[in-house]
Amino acid sequence: MIRLQPPLPERYTTAAPDDLAERIGAAKAGLGERLMVLGHHYQREEVMRWADCRGDSFGLSRRAADNSTAEYIVFCGVHFMAESADILTGGHQQVILPDLNAGCSMADMADIDQVEEAWEELARVTDVERIVPITYMNSSAALKAFVGRHGGAVCTSSNARAVITWALGRGDQLLFFPDQHLGRNTGYQLGYDESAMAVWDPRREAGGLPEREVKASTFLLWKGHCSVHQRFRPAHIVDFRSTYPAGLVVVHPECAHDVVELADQVGSTDFIINAVDAAPAGAVVGVGTEVHLVQRLAAEHPDKTVVSLDPLICPCSTMFRIDAAHLCWVLEGLAEGDVRNRITVDAETARSARVALERMLEIT
Ligand code: 13P
Ligand code: SF4
Repeated sequence: MIRLQPPLPERYTTAAPDDLAERIGAAKAGLGERLMVLGHHYQREEVMRWADCRGDSFGLSRRAADNSTAEYIVFCGVHFMAESADILTGGHQQVILPDLNAGCSMADMADIDQVEEAWEELARVTDVERIVPITYMNSSAALKAFVGRHGGAVCTSSNARAVITWALGRGDQLLFFPDQHLGRNTGYQLGYDESAMAVWDPRREAGGLPEREVKASTFLLWKGHCSVHQRFRPAHIVDFRSTYPAGLVVVHPECAHDVVELADQVGSTDFIINAVDAAPAGAVVGVGTEVHLVQRLAAEHPDKTVVSLDPLICPCSTMFRIDAAHLCWVLEGLAEGDVRNRITVDAETARSARVALERMLEIT
């Protein structure tokens, strides 16, 4: 999907950081309770300082679902998160994404046509009534709706284990998209091994899998990944441990399984924050996730050493699109009664997607 963000007027692009901060503060104060700003943990500091609630994608979806008063929800995160917030909030609430180009390359690795096609191909070789589709939160509303229509649920990195356990109680097989790593890591956590898993490649006919493998696999894992987390390699952990033999390694479950295997702990961005909080003063923690969160943790814990496992890690380029200028632009628009960058999901898609999201909220 092409989403186009119009260039901002000069009074935003050339404004000094202090000027933008002052204007954001003034617009926010004027909007008061009518506004709620949500900030995902990967947001940069100039944005995150304005968030009324910070969280991982699960926590923020709950905050959006629980707030029925704010008229405007400005989501400092990426497109799929804003869509989910729109689905979970009331008709009187409007969700805004400060930069329309803040997408997610992983979410773009599975589109609805590919998923529908995969389902038809699976139906030719196995009983799809016994397959439960699970989509990671990092997916478009159309995929969540597909899952809702076919008896499945959404999961996030903080509840994948609970959702997959629920799904295995309802069917014999899972089609898990779009992140193969979260699916595989959770499968291992539940006691399955590689022999129970197969990777479905949407670019190849019948997923590139022989019929017997499709039938024999409990986990059909979509061939998608996060380009940020896939950069972490086992060698990073080996290097970290040789420098800090007593150090603690905590990684996000979007990392590949060979990395997760070597880590001490694995979990969502909220989990990583709690792990660093719980480490004793003087601890050294090597973290495998997006660099803005790692930098924030380092700054908030001056009594501990918090480092990225990959010294050359790049930020999530789409999360990084949200900056103070775009936040100021949407907030000043709201203050003038002009709703910019509203994210909406059509009513039919939203109805089925809500089923899948609410199943997740009930399970966890
Ligand atoms: P969380 O579920 O930890 O918020 O992660 C979302 C995400 O996009 C990680 O890349
Ligand atoms: Fe998507 Fe990865 Fe960025 Fe998360 S870190 S928003 S999965 S590209």
